[in-house]
Amino acid sequence: MLDIKKLSVAVEGKTILKDVDLQIGKGEVLVLFGPNGSGKTTLIKAIMGFGGYSVKRGQMLFRDKVINNFSIEEREHLGIGIMHQHPPKIRGVKLSQIAQFLCKNEKKIKDLARRLSLEEHLDRDINLGFSGGEMKRSELFQVLLQDPHLLLLDEPESGVDLENISIMGKVLNDYLARQDKSALIITHTGYILDYINAEKGCVMMEGEFWCEGNPKEIFESIKKSGYEKCKECQWQKKS
Ligand SMILES: Nc1ncnc2c1ncn2[C@@H]1O[C@H](COP(=O)(O)OP(=O)(O)OP(=O)(O)O)[C@@H](O)[C@H]1O
Ligand SMILES: [Mg+2]
Repeated sequence: MLDIKKLSVAVEGKTILKDVDLQIGKGEVLVLFGPNGSGKTTLIKAIMGFGGYSVKRGQMLFRDKVINNFSIEEREHLGIGIMHQHPPKIRGVKLSQIAQFLCKNEKKIKDLARRLSLEEHLDRDINLGFSGGEMKRSELFQVLLQDPHLLLLDEPESGVDLENISIMGKVLNDYLARQDKSALIITHTGYILDYINAEKGCVMMEGEFWCEGNPKEIFESIKKSGYEKCKECQWQKKS
């Protein structure tokens, strides 16, 4: 599905990602951990093709196509979808309007809005005045309506209450499991691990993949010993 080789990315002239190698197979979920400022958001924004994330070296292959020079729209058409850590607020466009733009199936829109408790927000401007949790549910709603093959989720559960994490987790798991979709999920809290079937986890530090392994084990280790322990991990710096 996704194959990234020796990817180096600079932002504002500063190299943030250094020689990142990453593979995500069909139906595979990769959970990405890492301290603040380590480059996690930079990685998924570079995969999605946002301006300002300049690829200095390396190759990104998605479904056997080199996408380095593809626009965001082309990447979206190929089947990559992103859920932002800090989503934009869009004045003058209602959530229902973008939903209809993204998906022509009215029943699917209604069902998903109901499952994510968003029905009463459909008539509001996108994310404007939404609470933190409502915004995350609105983001998940929009990206799932795009029906992507690969989901890039940047801290989907951050700021969401436990009840709504459970709602989001179940919706996400249904999406991933039923349709054999792939995902790259960034998390600090680890709550999402209770709901999805993820076999692979990675830690990013200072723009490099440091170690990989079972995501629940990695998370337990981070909780217990912080990221210091990751530095000593046996998988340390594969290259
Ligand atoms: N537009 C920008 N201008 C300057 N520096 C930037 C810009 N975007 C990202 N950076 C820097 O790149 C580094 C990595 O940022 P990034 O957002 O990828 O971190 P992150 O791992 O997602 O952190 P967090 O867990 O806090 O979300 C940070 O030091 C950040 O300040
Ligand atoms: Mg981030």
